[in-house]
Amino acid sequence: MDLDQVSKEAQQAINKCRDLSELEETARHYLGKKGVVTTAFSQLTKLSLSQKKSEGKKLNQVQAIIADQVKQKEKDFKENLFQSQSESKIDISRPGKKIKLGHLHPLTKVVREVEDIFQLIGFSVVEGPELETEYYNFDALNIPADHPARDIWDTFWIKKSKPKQKKNLLRTHTSPNQARYLEKNQPPLRIIVPGMCYRHEATDRTHGFQFMQIEGLMVDEQVSLANFKAVVERFSQMFFGPDAEIRIIPDYFPFTEPSVEVSMRNKAGEWLEIMGAGLVHPNVFKAVGYPPYQWQGFAFGVGVERLAMIKYGLDDVRQLYQGDLRLIQQF
Ligand code: DAH
Repeated sequence: MDLDQVSKEAQQAINKCRDLSELEETARHYLGKKGVVTTAFSQLTKLSLSQKKSEGKKLNQVQAIIADQVKQKEKDFKENLFQSQSESKIDISRPGKKIKLGHLHPLTKVVREVEDIFQLIGFSVVEGPELETEYYNFDALNIPADHPARDIWDTFWIKKSKPKQKKNLLRTHTSPNQARYLEKNQPPLRIIVPGMCYRHEATDRTHGFQFMQIEGLMVDEQVSLANFKAVVERFSQMFFGPDAEIRIIPDYFPFTEPSVEVSMRNKAGEWLEIMGAGLVHPNVFKAVGYPPYQWQGFAFGVGVERLAMIKYGLDDVRQLYQGDLRLIQQF
């Protein structure tokens, strides 16, 4: 056998291989159990001792050369494979894709912030129903059926399915929760009650037919309007910052006596009403079965949209309910 010829052919065959499996096959053809080189080794026995020596040496060399070339070619393939893969599939230098995260609605943010502040000053957060009875929304709050003050709250009444059924409505304010909570709990107590309210009225830039309120109630043996003023000042400074300016003027609500209105300056310098408040009317304590004049309390109802308008500089509350992401994503 012409070993030089074998070596040359092997080299050509290895160079022609296009991938790893072709290379494996070629290597097997020369170096495998029944391969050309291996067969040549087994035939050495037929030769004379001196021929065995020289042919054997040569054969060893050829075997080593071929094995070396196979190894080299294999290395080339692996390097190229990595390169071509990184070119076509993984480009580690490409900029990453931004993952879109959701975020809270500005009104949710305001409510949570108000809750945090009041919790710091000892108030608990409780909730009540949006579908309310006439009794809690009005009667228990010193607004009987023929009271002219009912006109303040244009009401969405729920149709009765039976003639004798009690009248239900969509709550027009969060105040019914004063009566609900006082009935089930013993003073001293401090609560806030956030929730959605509804009024059957025309909308404009400061009013919606759907809006959020946060009711506040503090009842103890001695509670005065001075306590209310301290709490509301503290709140406005924590919520709006140390320069927050508030104004408290007289107002009228059937469930408080005296009653006040609290306003704040917006960014344009105008006063905007943010809440109604006052000292809990004796008739409210009476309605929930408390002995007369044993307890005193202040209550307030703050408009969440109004807080958002001032804090974020919005000029129309209706924008908050239109689901326009361009607006909502700013906050
Ligand atoms: N519920 C009133 C409203 O919606 C606001 C209000 C006024 C709440 C005085 C109070 C209060 O708790 O004491 O117009």
